Amino acid sequence: MIGFIGGGNMAEALIKGLIASNRKDIYVSEPTADRRLYISQQYTVITTQDNAALASAADIIVIAVKPQIISAVAAGLSDVDFSQKTIVSIAAGVSISYLKHAFRTNNVVRVMPNTPALVLKGMSVISAAEAIAPQTMDNVKAIFSSIGKVVFLPEKHMDAVTAVSGSGPAFISFFVKSIIEGGVKLGLDSETASMLALQTLAGTSELLVSRSPDDVIKMVSSPGGTTVAGLQVFTDRDGAGLIADVLMAAARRSAELNIKE
Ligand SMILES: NC(=O)c1ccc[n+]([C@@H]2O[C@H](COP(=O)([O-])OP(=O)(O)OC[C@H]3O[C@@H](n4cnc5c(N)ncnc54)[C@H](OP(=O)(O)O)[C@@H]3O)[C@@H](O)[C@H]2O)c1
Repeated sequence: MIGFIGGGNMAEALIKGLIASNRKDIYVSEPTADRRLYISQQYTVITTQDNAALASAADIIVIAVKPQIISAVAAGLSDVDFSQKTIVSIAAGVSISYLKHAFRTNNVVRVMPNTPALVLKGMSVISAAEAIAPQTMDNVKAIFSSIGKVVFLPEKHMDAVTAVSGSGPAFISFFVKSIIEGGVKLGLDSETASMLALQTLAGTSELLVSRSPDDVIKMVSSPGGTTVAGLQVFTDRDGAGLIADVLMAAARRSAELNIKE
């Protein structure tokens, strides 16, 4: 059984994905009664407000609460024997060593999903403690594959992952918002500018599945043409350097916020 401690946004995305991939053995622990009612009615899963009852029943326990309350959640589970269970934390910045210590087990997996998981187009990066058996890893992979793509990386990359795919949806949305505002400055109404920008984003994402960014840039650019004129501004103002700085700032902040021990 897969148990979720915390039935918020990210847990809901995972529950939706699991149901869509025909998993039915799902149990959710959530303190707010209205939220429990919503989750149980919407997805036909069992809910509880008792984290310990959930942790005792589940084999895989997904920790889906905010990072700052993990220690309180772990303290409330001090009577649970985790030796035959796996803790899967999606809490941003909470290290594997902290999780091992808090839950008194080496069976710990850390995952960084991202917000597009809400529409089953997520990118999840998984880092696991050495103790995790291959069969368990397959089970964890299946959970996150239900909300999008999965890759395995060593934990040392988690700050970079947080910058690229964790914060990435906000950076890309900022870019899209700026394109819409630029279109409005050029005289388009905001609804039209928005439609043009969003469809261009969706279409370009599809193109980028089978072509490299450089290929797409080449396809759109003709010598002396409009695209080249626009791209020249990126070059003149070091647009690539600016974006690298944005990612660097996010990764640095991720490192500062990490809960390590
Ligand atoms: N959202 C994202 O895009 C994203 C991406 C990557 C990682 N994450 C990570 O995912 C985790 C959950 O994020 P979220 O966006 O889903 O947050 P969220 O919507 O606030 O969900 C957290 C849920 O946990 C519940 N909760 C609070 N205390 C609890 C307790 N003691 N026991 C059980 N449940 C409790 C909360 O209930 P109340 O509301 O009643 O307090 C809430 O329903 C976070 O650690 C975050 O870092 C999120």
